[in-house]
Amino acid sequence: MPGTCVIGLQWGDEAKGKLVDILTEDHDLVVRYQGGANAGHTVVSGGQTWKLSLIPSGILRDGITCIVTGGVVLDPASVIREMDGLESRGVKIGSKLLLSDRAHVVFPWHIAEDKVLDGSVSGGEAIGTTGRGIGPCYRDKVGRSLAIRLGDLYRDDFRAKLEHIVAVKRRLLAGWQQSGPAGGTPDAAELDAAAIHRQYMAYAERLRPHVADTTAVLLDGVEAGKRLLFEGAQGALLDIDHGTFPYVTSSNSSGVGVASGSGVPGRWVDRVIGVVKAYSTRVGGGPLPTEQINAFGEHMRERGREYGTVTMRPRRCGWFDAVAARYTARLSGVDELAVMLLDVLSELKEVRICSAYTIGGKRVTQFPSHVDDLRQAEPIYETLPGWSEDLTTVRSYEALPANARAYLDRISELLGRPVTIVSVGPDREQTIFRAPSVAPRHPAPRHPLPTPAKA
Ligand code: IMP
Repeated sequence: MPGTCVIGLQWGDEAKGKLVDILTEDHDLVVRYQGGANAGHTVVSGGQTWKLSLIPSGILRDGITCIVTGGVVLDPASVIREMDGLESRGVKIGSKLLLSDRAHVVFPWHIAEDKVLDGSVSGGEAIGTTGRGIGPCYRDKVGRSLAIRLGDLYRDDFRAKLEHIVAVKRRLLAGWQQSGPAGGTPDAAELDAAAIHRQYMAYAERLRPHVADTTAVLLDGVEAGKRLLFEGAQGALLDIDHGTFPYVTSSNSSGVGVASGSGVPGRWVDRVIGVVKAYSTRVGGGPLPTEQINAFGEHMRERGREYGTVTMRPRRCGWFDAVAARYTARLSGVDELAVMLLDVLSELKEVRICSAYTIGGKRVTQFPSHVDDLRQAEPIYETLPGWSEDLTTVRSYEALPANARAYLDRISELLGRPVTIVSVGPDREQTIFRAPSVAPRHPAPRHPLPTPAKA
């Protein structure tokens, strides 16, 4: 049956975009089901580099339908910018792009709120959001009374709804601006309902041909035997419920989000690929236990070009954290692993993997549920010999240096899943596929028969 799902197992930026682009060939529908314009992915295709945010990279191919579901928060200006960018480079979008009428819409006040409220978490470290209004839009979705969905833009009461919300938001923003660190935030008085209405009506007209009940489209697709590719955005450690709260994004970015975000029951996903970088990165606030704030961290950042696609912020870099990735692999029901950017670790004398933490003097292999415990975690490293060879021209697993294979084998062992895909550069060709060896979902019987009592 039809579904494949690609999930980042770290803090985002695992180079999922390249993998999704390759896997798209074997699917009919590519589905973006959570997050918003906070995500960014770079795809190198046909000798050209494409930077996309909300629109799945499947848009570059014919015969693929790209679906942005109701689990996404949608900034129309951002989608239109992306569409214009694609069309100006000769990509025909036509009916290839569908946007859910259930998707909640990002408005200017969401972006203003993101700036006002991200100053700090209860007086502590800032979350360091992308500033795209993602959290505030999800907050209004859950709160319901101040929310507008894409389908609402086409209803007669849109203007009245908007005027009511703008009046409330002006009061809220003015209050927050007085009490919070509002540096650089547009003045609440700048929220002008008439101007916003005009602007969003223009967006609505432009997007009209693409707006659909995508849940119905997807469920019809499942019944018609179409193959679905679910493209997770961000990484599982940024999951609102299961990540390093509060230093997370506002959606379910682990595998648990597929069903709620898309409306397609999880039982239709029969292949879950967990994507990891060969090391760790994180952008924004929150703990990164294996972080290297030293020359080595700088080396990884430069070699891996670790700067944010959306915000261009330098990413924090560190060694591979197997405690964290094992947790998210289990959480997302991962069958197999794709290890990306392995080439970045070449030319190191030795490489390290964090296989446990010390927290409060105790050795721990379970990822902590509270961020304060994670802050205290001291990584326990395994050190493996490095490799000097350039990997960017290697095209088979067997041709990888023995030490690089040993490194991958150890990751596989610690995460309990086979490594089936290895990436050694940004190009499609720089991808090594091992024979698929999908681990059984239930290696042991779930309800074993009781051992017969001895006579
Ligand atoms: P928000 O999603 O803009 O609210 O940001 C919340 C946190 O998630 C911040 O630490 C961001 O840096 C991080 N984040 C959001 N989207 C991405 C992404 O696509 N890659 C990596 N980090 C992200």
